[in-house]
Amino acid sequence: MEQTALFEKIGGIMHGGDYNPEQWLDRPDILAKDIEMMKKAGVNCVTLGVFAWAVHEPREGEFHFEWLKEIMDNLYENGIYTILATPSGARPAWLDEKYPEAMRVDASGHRAHHGVRHNHCMSSPIFREKIAIMDRKLAENFADHPGMLLWHISNEFGGECYCPHCVKRFQNYLAEKFDHDIDKLNHAWWTTFWSHRFNSFDQIEPPYSNGEFSIMGLNLEWKRFTTWSMTDFMKWEISVLRDVKADVPVTTNFMKLYDGLDYREMAKELDMVSWDSYPAFHNDRETLAETMLENAFDHAVIRSMKPDRPFMLMESVPGAVNWHPFNKVKRPGAHRLACFQAVASGSDTVQYFQWRKGRGSFEQYHGAVVDHLGTDDTRIFKEVEEVGQLLKKIPDVAGTIPKNQVAMIFDWDNRWAIDDAMALAQETKNYEKTCMDIWDEFMKMGVEPDVISSDSDFSPYKVLILPMFYVLHDGVGAKIKDFVAKGGQVLATYFTGYVDKDLLCHLGGFPGDGLSEVFGIISEEIDTLYPTDRNAVRFTNGKVCEVRDYAEMLRVSDAEVLGTYETDYYGKMAAVTKKKYGEGNAYYVACRMAATDMKDLFVEVLSNAGIAGKDLPEGVEYHVRYGAEKSFEFYLNASGKQITLSGVSGKDLIGEKEISGELILDPCAVAVIEK
Ligand code: GLA
Ligand code: ZN
Repeated sequence: MEQTALFEKIGGIMHGGDYNPEQWLDRPDILAKDIEMMKKAGVNCVTLGVFAWAVHEPREGEFHFEWLKEIMDNLYENGIYTILATPSGARPAWLDEKYPEAMRVDASGHRAHHGVRHNHCMSSPIFREKIAIMDRKLAENFADHPGMLLWHISNEFGGECYCPHCVKRFQNYLAEKFDHDIDKLNHAWWTTFWSHRFNSFDQIEPPYSNGEFSIMGLNLEWKRFTTWSMTDFMKWEISVLRDVKADVPVTTNFMKLYDGLDYREMAKELDMVSWDSYPAFHNDRETLAETMLENAFDHAVIRSMKPDRPFMLMESVPGAVNWHPFNKVKRPGAHRLACFQAVASGSDTVQYFQWRKGRGSFEQYHGAVVDHLGTDDTRIFKEVEEVGQLLKKIPDVAGTIPKNQVAMIFDWDNRWAIDDAMALAQETKNYEKTCMDIWDEFMKMGVEPDVISSDSDFSPYKVLILPMFYVLHDGVGAKIKDFVAKGGQVLATYFTGYVDKDLLCHLGGFPGDGLSEVFGIISEEIDTLYPTDRNAVRFTNGKVCEVRDYAEMLRVSDAEVLGTYETDYYGKMAAVTKKKYGEGNAYYVACRMAATDMKDLFVEVLSNAGIAGKDLPEGVEYHVRYGAEKSFEFYLNASGKQITLSGVSGKDLIGEKEISGELILDPCAVAVIEK
């Protein structure tokens, strides 16, 4: 699917968001005002129909699309395009009343009652039949509409279903996966332990909360199955739409590092990846710059799913959400920073949830562009309007992409497996945080890493970072070996290469699958420290850094020792090593240090790779997007004070002036430098 065509229609960055006119059909005055205000705010695209099933089909078989046609026509006539949603995110009451099997069963085996949203059984044949009728009609009516931009499949897919139908599909999925050979499964899951052997696939149940949760391989396969099953449902919806018209692109909106679905599997079926970003701005534990950096990591995870094209910020809020523990209002300027961060990270869209606040129910107080007050002179409306104007200054950014030379591997399987592993300390595993902290350190040096999967193509990268890279899928050991042999720089940490794809431990030394040869070490033991325990690493240059949480004891066969432990029975043993392997280098950090303490190592790795960083003042974020002829450098000032940057040159499209040397940025200001 040609995604560039999508943005050519818009002619720049998309700006808009979820629009729910179906809640206001009895208020034509408000609908008219919406269009007027959208134009004022620089909105060029809205998402329609996300939860409109009960309006589309109020009674089984009775369809009403006139309202939608009228809205879409009107929007289009006013220069506003539509992202059209399929409404499978929430079911009308008649559907659950007549077909209760469409409702989900939870981990304790209880079927849900009707209500809320995002809770259909993804296997239910009747639900698939009903949504197919709906999707086909939507496609027949709207796929050829001139304002139609792309399909928004369902909404924030998530959750699991333990109904009998899903259980049967799980068993079939396993049978397929293990070649219909139960002994293969028994071996992969090590089921002789605790007499867990199965005689047939029919005996296997999902990990019910009061059932079998002690087989790590089973737990992981259930997660993989849930991804497969949800993806299969999504593919069903896509196939119905494509059957009517093949060439309208599709997306679905992902959530922040949602761990229930392996988004990378789902992304393979989509033309565009998109996500909904709701950082806890101005919280009591982080600076604005820290909150921003965490969000930048999330953007990088999403972007890296399709590194050859822009991604989409599908939802964000210009004010406060209503579901955080504390729903703090976004301070003036933070909105501009967040919007430009999305674009800087590779998004071609800035979309909001929601255009207008509803009057009642669960999200009546959720932030929106238009408040209950209903006017275009509110602080928030004006900030949105300003963003709309600024985005119009950078039309050529659309379609460009970041091209990064450093990548971090961050796998969903790894998240699930580390979380489930009966090892280390439940409280301090912190896989995600460990990855983010390291990622942040590179960002502070002006080097943005992609966040990829072990299945990704490593060839665009010169440096690979492998934090707690616990699960090694088949062939990944060899892939890393090859990467280093050909001149790549790899840095791995403790808890790397312990298990294979089924979570069976590698024999003969960790990291397994050939990696101990690459690093020239074997990790013989891993010590878990209590939260108050400390050790330290003394580097050969005399620097001493604190160690917390985890420390591995290494047998060094063939590597240079860069640092040794200070205390305990493993004092003086190797803690950080480096091995030249082929044309490249393999670094191993055997213990948890603060990412800031690893900076010297990162600098060394980057310099080996010939990658120059940037001297950035604290709180300033830097990103680059590349096009065929031009590139765009983004500077975002989240420091809270005025900043002067030196060594910047090119045309600042935001400030509309040539910069040669010094760039001055006010708090929350952004610059986009065209080169
Ligand atoms: C999600 C959903 C929206 C809305 C927002 C509120 O992103 O997709 O429908 O509920 O959250 O923040
Ligand atoms: Zn089910």
